[in-house]
Amino acid sequence: MNAIRQPVVSTSNVAKSFGGFTAVGGVSLDIYDSEAVAIIGPNGAGKSTFFDLLTGRKIPDSGEVRLFGEPVTDLPPWQRVRRGLGRSFQISSVFRNATVLENVQIGLMLARGRAWNMFGRASAMLRQEAGAALEQVGLQAKRDMLAGDLSYGDQRTLELAVALSTKPRVLLLDEPTAGMGREESRKCLELIRAIAASERIPIVFVEHDMDVVFSFATRVVVLAAGKVLIDAEPQAVRSDSRVKEAYFGEDI
Ligand SMILES: Nc1ncnc2c1ncn2[C@@H]1O[C@H](COP(=O)(O)OP(=O)(O)O)[C@@H](O)[C@H]1O
Ligand SMILES: [Mg+2]
Repeated sequence: MNAIRQPVVSTSNVAKSFGGFTAVGGVSLDIYDSEAVAIIGPNGAGKSTFFDLLTGRKIPDSGEVRLFGEPVTDLPPWQRVRRGLGRSFQISSVFRNATVLENVQIGLMLARGRAWNMFGRASAMLRQEAGAALEQVGLQAKRDMLAGDLSYGDQRTLELAVALSTKPRVLLLDEPTAGMGREESRKCLELIRAIAASERIPIVFVEHDMDVVFSFATRVVVLAAGKVLIDAEPQAVRSDSRVKEAYFGEDI
């Protein structure tokens, strides 16, 4: 192993408050190639906020975010996507009145910083790229359906296709299986795992289902009250009594 191996994604002491309430209180984390890092923690721990600092939806009050060694702390999301970041969010973000294929095309356009009014011209161009991403997740047969008519699980899978369409070098997924049934969520994670393995993309994901976390993650980061409580291999986290304490009162 190279001693000066560079992290794919790196934060140093990032913090974010909302009106005096500290959601993320100084988190430093390095994510390396070939890792699948699960971020877990009780409700309100700051997982989504931390995630937003990585994707650029929110800008930290202090600290730094780096992507492939370059500072991106203040860059908007699409510029991070352009640098190789693929992401999907906890709340489903498909355009329900656009078709499945159009959703991926729109995602591609936004990722490239093009304006909406270019859609007419760009759509022809992006058909092939968008189609390839749908193929990758097994949604190609549903490409002409309205996204709003897809099952919930398929909508989340569509978001994965949108994330993959830009050929990311790292994938960030905030609760990719949120709202899915157990069976559906297993299938979705299996798909993500297979894609990550075949494309060799490191993954950072927020996940509630502990079975999924421990079967998939190579490293688990436990956030509690906006700070890293534990950062360790899954087995070590599973047996750490501090995890149960952090989740006190919640089902895990
Ligand atoms: N935009 C916001 N305005 C005010 N408070 C927020 C905002 N976003 C998150 N918070 C608060 O920050 C804390 C962390 O939220 P979040 O990052 O969503 O936690 P998690 O994803 O771990 O459940 C919560 O107490 C939440 O209410
Ligand atoms: Mg969240």
